[in-house]
Amino acid sequence: MSGLLAGKRLLVSGVITDASIAFSVAKLAQENGAQVVLTGFGRLSLVERIAKRLPETAPVIELDVTNPEHLAGLADSVREHVDGLDGVVHSIGFAPQSCLGGGFLDASWEDVATALHVSTYSYKSLATAALPLMSPGGAVVGLTFDATQAWPVYDWMGVAKAGLESTSRYLALHLGKQGIRSNLVAAGPLRTMAAKSIPGFEQFEDAWSERAPLGWNLTDQEPAARACLALLSDWFPATTGEIVHVDGGYHAIGA
Ligand SMILES: NC(=O)c1ccc[n+]([C@@H]2O[C@H](COP(=O)([O-])OP(=O)(O)OC[C@H]3O[C@@H](n4cnc5c(N)ncnc54)[C@H](O)[C@@H]3O)[C@@H](O)[C@H]2O)c1
Repeated sequence: MSGLLAGKRLLVSGVITDASIAFSVAKLAQENGAQVVLTGFGRLSLVERIAKRLPETAPVIELDVTNPEHLAGLADSVREHVDGLDGVVHSIGFAPQSCLGGGFLDASWEDVATALHVSTYSYKSLATAALPLMSPGGAVVGLTFDATQAWPVYDWMGVAKAGLESTSRYLALHLGKQGIRSNLVAAGPLRTMAAKSIPGFEQFEDAWSERAPLGWNLTDQEPAARACLALLSDWFPATTGEIVHVDGGYHAIGA
């Protein structure tokens, strides 16, 4: 086996269509020598159908990251396919409609709590559920949308991402002793199912098209996926608690 991730065993969450960032991660990882197990949420038969479009059909384990029974059984379910894990990819996000699109001042705590449970706390939940299978050198990687500033229409999802970025730093702190890294990729806007559920998402598309110094392709998930692979690989052995921007350079440029 050859490639950047030769011999590595990965658990990849977040595939729902072949436009999912997680699909690109799984595809590239297989092309680079990794063995991939997917987790799927809700529409499992759809995820299984998408899993067949990978270079090698990947097994799919059901996982709702807010379901304690799913989390408790995850390690055993993964062991049916691989004997350990070298990497875990968290590519999960959700917020009720009231939390997005300008409703910041009116969203209820129940809706905000759902957004934080699925999009923020779940990063820790997934990592600890997979931890019994991990060993020194292992890596956890997640996807954020730069949360250092407030964005129009992103609202409570922006707050959830700020929390995710902090959660990743705390995970880096608490898993460092075990030699396990935690890093995030801050991707620019990409036309996925999650993105389409954000009313006014086209504002991001226009901003990136005008401002990203390298330009930005809204339908190319591969640059973000490549960064995930790099962080999962042995080429960032002393990097943890980091956020790598894959946004065409947008974050570095003033308006
Ligand atoms: N698309 C973008 O513009 C963009 C930019 C930066 C970061 N991100 C982040 O990338 C990640 C992946 O999103 P995507 O854009 O590929 O969209 P996507 O819709 O393809 O993926 C989102 C995934 O979250 C899963 N999910 C939702 N609720 C869940 C739950 N309770 N348990 C388990 N899984 C659940 C969905 O099943 C889906 O697979 C998210 O964290 C998103 O916030 C996306």
